[in-house]
Amino acid sequence: MAQKRDARHTLMLPFEQELLPFPGDGERYCYINAMAPEGRDWQSVLDCEQGDRRSFLQLEAAGFSVEPSRELENYDGALVLAGKHKRLNEANVIRAWNGLKPGKILVVAGDKNVGIAPLRKFVQAKVEVEESLSKNHGLVFWVVKQATDWELSPVGAAVEGYKTAPGMFSPEKIDMGSSLLAEHFDERIRGSVADFGAGWGYLCGELLSCSKKLSHLDLYEADWASLEAAKENISDKVGDVHMGAYWIDITAEPITRKYNWIIMNPPFHAGRKADIPLGESFIAKARQSLQPKGKLLMVANIQLPYEALLKQKFSRCELLSSKGGFKVFEAMV
Ligand SMILES: C[S@@+](CC[C@H](N)C(=O)[O-])C[C@H]1O[C@@H](n2cnc3c(N)ncnc32)[C@H](O)[C@@H]1O
Repeated sequence: MAQKRDARHTLMLPFEQELLPFPGDGERYCYINAMAPEGRDWQSVLDCEQGDRRSFLQLEAAGFSVEPSRELENYDGALVLAGKHKRLNEANVIRAWNGLKPGKILVVAGDKNVGIAPLRKFVQAKVEVEESLSKNHGLVFWVVKQATDWELSPVGAAVEGYKTAPGMFSPEKIDMGSSLLAEHFDERIRGSVADFGAGWGYLCGELLSCSKKLSHLDLYEADWASLEAAKENISDKVGDVHMGAYWIDITAEPITRKYNWIIMNPPFHAGRKADIPLGESFIAKARQSLQPKGKLLMVANIQLPYEALLKQKFSRCELLSSKGGFKVFEAMV
């Protein structure tokens, strides 16, 4: 989070230092991968795009106009905050450029450790960079939109028939932990089922292939693009199963439905740091969201200490397998 905050401040430097004018009356700027800026009255100017639910909620609470995804057209200015995914950054810069009126400014910033220098090179190969500034391990640069748009090549990949894209969990291969979890799918998983942190839909897709006894299958995911991909990836397999897809922060937003089964490969990273409380919070939420005698089937990296919490929250907890650095648990309410 601190990483993004640094770059967020760096992005606004040219305006703070009056190297670029603050947007004029009636002007609209788009802001991709937005993180709420501080200081000026940016709320009245920015159309933010943010697909991460947690950052989206922060922007909304701070009074910004924000959507998880936007069509970008005819903007008077564009801001892009680079993240850690090179091809996603490049695609965002191209989308922002194409969404600008000619003669308007595109400002891009990012931390040095997310590859902002290569991103500047990528842009420089297309158009002259007007100016760059470095501060707080970050870099900001800007360019002026020319008459011609840039070609946007698709950034997606395909993994065993599933569509994925950079920025999603394990976009180039099936995660070994998820694959181990899926080995335990069969028709005992029945009734109303949820996948917590559904990603681009691998677990749900496999479950739909292994159990024909599902009535409901609900996907919960904080990343908008992943959830959209998941819906598409499983659409052919859903048949009569009632599918729900919820773009939420599982740790902070309510889940009202109660399930017979919850399957999950919970996240344990926030940025680059291991975040065990995040996984623990998924376990606690799963417990609350299960019916009496409901079951949680989950996988975790072998070194993660989830056993004590599972034993505390559930009446029974069994280690089903332990292989290749991962362990699979089944726990009953
Ligand atoms: C380890 S991945 C598992 C993805 C997928 N189930 C699979 O097995 O391939 C964990 C997923 O949880 C999502 N996630 C992380 N934090 C979340 C939160 N607070 N609320 C909802 N989803 C979250 C991530 O975006 C990611 O897709």
